[in-house]
Amino acid sequence: MNIITDPRELQKQCLTWRSEGLTIGLVPTMGYFHEGHLALMDRARPLCDKLIVTLFVNPTQFGENEDLNKYPHDLDGDSAKAQSRETDLIFAPESSAMYEEDHATRVDVPELGKHLCGASRSGHFKGVCTVVTKLFMLTQPDVAVFGRKDWQQLAIIKRMVRDLNIPVQIIGHEIIRESDGLALSSRNAYLTEKERAAAPSIRKGLVKMAEMVKNGERNAEVAKAFLHNEYASTLPMGTVDYIELVDPDAIEPIEIITGSTLAAVAVRIGKARLIDNILIEV
Ligand code: PAF
Repeated sequence: MNIITDPRELQKQCLTWRSEGLTIGLVPTMGYFHEGHLALMDRARPLCDKLIVTLFVNPTQFGENEDLNKYPHDLDGDSAKAQSRETDLIFAPESSAMYEEDHATRVDVPELGKHLCGASRSGHFKGVCTVVTKLFMLTQPDVAVFGRKDWQQLAIIKRMVRDLNIPVQIIGHEIIRESDGLALSSRNAYLTEKERAAAPSIRKGLVKMAEMVKNGERNAEVAKAFLHNEYASTLPMGTVDYIELVDPDAIEPIEIITGSTLAAVAVRIGKARLIDNILIEV
């Protein structure tokens, strides 16, 4: 497995592979791998000849008071894990290699970024779209795999790829969870023992609310109020950032539930801001 840090070298390698008729799969990540990341690699591996995993904590998607400087790193551990999943190439650039000092271009899909994480993390998806576009330009992948935990990110990337005619197939992979239901996230590492013990309530509440909707509740406000109450009693150390029911493609809030609905939440527990979601089919 090759580790590349220079974007020009990555692009050259990918152009060579393409000229040889080889297909390329891409798994973009910010590193500090857990089973969720490895599941994305496993999903991509059989779909391509060459599998590239990128590890880049992208500064343009972090707000001023967010955890950019604290984001956990472990390049050696990550490399070993990626190799165990038959990754062909790791791309782990420095920020200065990805962004010139006078970098001025941004890619944005504002219509899908108005709610959920887009509302509480201003500029976040612009940073995501910009870096993902750059990674697509550098690697020209046939297929790219993203996790459904970041559902809004996935919806935005799909729309961006469609709107800009980027020739890549985007695959969303199911959320990988701990046995108690907590969605895997690199940010779970910020939780204290007590916080970690309480965190599965995020998922439990979502499942209960989904049941309520499946049993006939159609008013989104009622369903959301139920989940607020649920978190107030089961997760008193948590602060709800948002609880929202949205159209899964347009990421627009729903008032009356009539079809496929995404229930999405973000909850702050101690130093961690955790997100989770559930797709409710009615
Ligand atoms: O989901 C992530 O880890 C990041 O947002 C991504 C897609 C790697 C872009 O930096």
